[in-house]
Amino acid sequence: MADVTPKPLAVVTGASAGIGYELAKECARNGFDLVIAADEPAINDAARELRQLGADVDAVEADLATLEGVDKLYAAVKGRPVDALLANAGHGLGKAFLDQDFDDVRHVIDTNVTGTLYLLHKVGRDMRARGQGRILVTGSIGGFMPGTYQAVYNGTKAMLDSFSFALRHELKDTGITVTCLMPGPTETEFFERADMLDTKVGQSKKDDPADVAKIGFDAMMKGEGDVVSGWKNKLQSAIATVTPSGVMAEMHRGMTEPGTGKK
Ligand SMILES: NC(=O)c1ccc[n+]([C@@H]2O[C@H](COP(=O)([O-])OP(=O)(O)OC[C@H]3O[C@@H](n4cnc5c(N)ncnc54)[C@H](OP(=O)(O)O)[C@@H]3O)[C@@H](O)[C@H]2O)c1
Repeated sequence: MADVTPKPLAVVTGASAGIGYELAKECARNGFDLVIAADEPAINDAARELRQLGADVDAVEADLATLEGVDKLYAAVKGRPVDALLANAGHGLGKAFLDQDFDDVRHVIDTNVTGTLYLLHKVGRDMRARGQGRILVTGSIGGFMPGTYQAVYNGTKAMLDSFSFALRHELKDTGITVTCLMPGPTETEFFERADMLDTKVGQSKKDDPADVAKIGFDAMMKGEGDVVSGWKNKLQSAIATVTPSGVMAEMHRGMTEPGTGKK
């Protein structure tokens, strides 16, 4: 008789590229079916590739900076139990705060914080009702330090890093684990999208998103509280916790100030 037990389901946001795409690949390779989301049609290309790994994949095109976009994603789950939620969609924004367009500022906050929390609230309630689930939030080591020339972005990641641990402890003993993946600079489209290619960090050698995703996926499966990917980032985040914020803010300038990269 054919095996009719459904595969577990993972929802991965920001799965069209970078770390999210690699997280979705990890899920597919490890026996999950997928609902994946991103804002652009490229999410459908990602779905086609992920199906080659044997997963059933539904792709959702939605701006997760909006409540309507998150509702569209949630509707696409069609009431199926979500075994793993990987809330990864997010983007940065370089340049000085006062030189940024406020609509862009707001989109960073609405994507990284409001949309992420709204999705966690909806799916988290369903997980609590079932008494089971795994949540992975993509925070950042940027959350440990004031992000001079990335001020709003680092603020959103500080919020997620903090929130993730608090939620984990609220859900202690419920069967739901919450894990925060805190990458350092990673080779994705992030820096180009954030208009940071003229910065030192934008031009530096960065981590491989596949390695970062594997570390995050494994930590989620083990139910760990947080994971900083890579020893350099571990060291940097440890230093950040004992260094005055003013010193960290000035160090950050050296990495992210426009023009700090090679011409
Ligand atoms: N790269 C790094 O150095 C680094 C370091 C620490 C943390 N992170 C975090 O890692 C996560 C993934 O970033 P990445 O580096 O993989 O960047 P990426 O290659 O630019 O991928 C970002 C993904 O998020 C999606 N996304 C962004 N805004 C969205 C929105 N409003 N609605 C729906 N989807 C949206 C993008 O889809 P669309 O193209 O359709 O918008 C894309 O799939 C982010 O949360 C980022 O903050 C990155």
